[in-house]
Amino acid sequence: MRKETTELLLKKAAEARGASYSPYSGFSVGAALLLSDGSIYTGANIENSSYTPTVCAERVAFFSALHDGHRDFRAIAIVGGKGEPTGLCYPCGVCLQVMSEFCSGDFEIILSDGKEGRTLTLDELLPRRFTLKK
Ligand code: THU
Repeated sequence: MRKETTELLLKKAAEARGASYSPYSGFSVGAALLLSDGSIYTGANIENSSYTPTVCAERVAFFSALHDGHRDFRAIAIVGGKGEPTGLCYPCGVCLQVMSEFCSGDFEIILSDGKEGRTLTLDELLPRRFTLKK
C-alpha cells in the first residue's frame, strides 16, 4: 500500500467518524474501505437504545459496498474512540468475521489515532477463522 493511499484512507475514516450516531457509548468510529477498483466506501457506527441492533462502522462500509455489487476489497482504515487522542481502534470479532467472508488473508487493516499508526493483515488479526469449508 502506498503511503499516500494509507493517508487518504485514514483521512476519509476520520471524516466518516463525524457521521457516527453514538449517544450511548460516546465512542465514535469511522471506517474507509478501499476496493480493488480504487473506489472507497465509508461508514460510521450507528447505535440503538436497545443496544443489540448497534452496527459498527466497518460493517456499514462493507454492507454499503456489497449492496452496490462489489466483492473485491483491498484494505480498510479505522479511526475511533472517545475524545482525543483516541488510541488505536481495533475491529471487533464480528467485523473480522464479516471481513473473512469476503477478503483474503492479506487484506490490510490500517489503524491510526494521528499519533500512532499500525497496519495489520486479516490473517494476523483473525488467524483461525470460522469457515464451512473443509
Ligand atoms: N464499534 C465500531 O464501530 N467498530 C468496532 O470494530 C468496535 C466497536 C462501535 C460499536 C459501538 O457503537 C461503539 O463502538 C462502542 O462499542
